[in-house]
Amino acid sequence: KIYQNYFFDEPAFNTHDGGYVPLVPANIEPQRLRIPEIAKPDKRDGQDVYYTLTAQTGEVQLLPGAKTKTWGYNAPLLGQTFVFNSGETIHMHLVNELPELTTFHWHGLNIPGPIEDGGCHAPVYPKGSRDVTFTLHQPAAMTWLHAHPCPETAAQVWHGLAAAVIVKDDHEAALPLPRHYGVDDIPIILQDRHFHANNQWDYRADYDPDGVQGPTPMLNGTINPYFDVTTQKLRLRFLDGANRREWRLHFSNDLPFTQIAGDSSLLPHPIKLTHLMITCAERQEIVVDFKNYHAGDTVQLFSDDVPILTLRIHDFKPDQQIIPENLFTLKTPPIDPEEPVKTVTMSGMDEGVLLDGTKFQMQRIDYTMPMHQVQIWDIVNSNNTRNGMIHPFHMHGLSFQVLSRNGKAPYPNETGLKDVVSVNPEEHVRIKVWFNVPGIFMYHCHILEHEDGGMMAQIKVVDPKHPDVHYDLMDHMTL
Ligand code: C2O
Ligand code: CU
Ligand code: CU
Repeated sequence: KIYQNYFFDEPAFNTHDGGYVPLVPANIEPQRLRIPEIAKPDKRDGQDVYYTLTAQTGEVQLLPGAKTKTWGYNAPLLGQTFVFNSGETIHMHLVNELPELTTFHWHGLNIPGPIEDGGCHAPVYPKGSRDVTFTLHQPAAMTWLHAHPCPETAAQVWHGLAAAVIVKDDHEAALPLPRHYGVDDIPIILQDRHFHANNQWDYRADYDPDGVQGPTPMLNGTINPYFDVTTQKLRLRFLDGANRREWRLHFSNDLPFTQIAGDSSLLPHPIKLTHLMITCAERQEIVVDFKNYHAGDTVQLFSDDVPILTLRIHDFKPDQQIIPENLFTLKTPPIDPEEPVKTVTMSGMDEGVLLDGTKFQMQRIDYTMPMHQVQIWDIVNSNNTRNGMIHPFHMHGLSFQVLSRNGKAPYPNETGLKDVVSVNPEEHVRIKVWFNVPGIFMYHCHILEHEDGGMMAQIKVVDPKHPDVHYDLMDHMTL
């Protein structure tokens, strides 16, 4: 079976919202797609790996003419890619060389909060640093790193503070999948930008409380990118790193492809599709097979009808390997039937966005739950289907399982572990929630301006062995 449609409800696509900014093809010479370098540890000592991670300012030649002022992680824009192995203990020396406070949030890593997790309560001040250590126990996946100071997350990500974080494990390493980084396995960070005079970005000028957008697609910090394909199969790890844009991806000639992973794990079984929608902060991993193409051919990747990446096919060796039917065994703990369902409601639009009828407050704990307890959460989008928006719901500190959408089966590509689930207007999405680590964690809409605008809450996850831990909670930053 080949799925030919985006799974989402079409009336909810962001094109139907008044503030939508359509993509426009970038009218410059094709640029080679930037492949972020892999971050090198300062030191390795058995399972202990040490890194320095610096948030820095930079300048990048994105368009002809003036360079664009940007921010990045160990790089002028976006970042290096971090590659961690499950089981390792990571020691991060976090350095802030920006002119303002930032935080380093590991989106998708199941590590304690609020400090290691790097949400709003773990500031690193300008010229300052912080050391965090965490041990990874989670399946292979592409997660990511982004800034998370409240309420400046959106502006800092727009400046460029977002990077890919690849988690590896032995199970995935034994599967016949492309994994030669930069050659047949590449992260693709999907973003959109608006260039002002002298090729600069101006977040405040472009501000929209429903999410800042720009007409120009930018992939891995490249405008009008091309990639040289030198293998029959290509693994693309898409991350929607846009502040608010959804991407509806498809190739020229409706070339079918295979999806192998969602946010936080491989899919139990691969699925074949021709159209794939990705919403904010989600990751979708696909393998494209070019067996019917030859050197000299090109294949375009589109979002809606705008070309965003050109794949230039070169000679490649035939690749007979078949993607296995069983990629991942999803083991999730059973739900206690006595446990009530917890409802979370995302409501409003623009400045009126709320979570459970209220706006986020950094010093307020909205919910408490013991570690390892298993609950069903019913995530509701109370926007109406005529002019509402899809809200991508994200939780820190865990991976969850999607159980149902309005009582029906989840989409075929959300059968693995996830940490973002997009909820259509008037929809109820049920997820299975449990934490393996303690701490304070945010949960929120991942349209970054909705998050900064207060469509966010926080949970305290209590370790029954250490119920009295005290957490210092920050207050909203003021610039
Ligand atoms: Cu991508 Cu609160 O996070
Ligand atoms: Cu997160
Ligand atoms: Cu939202």
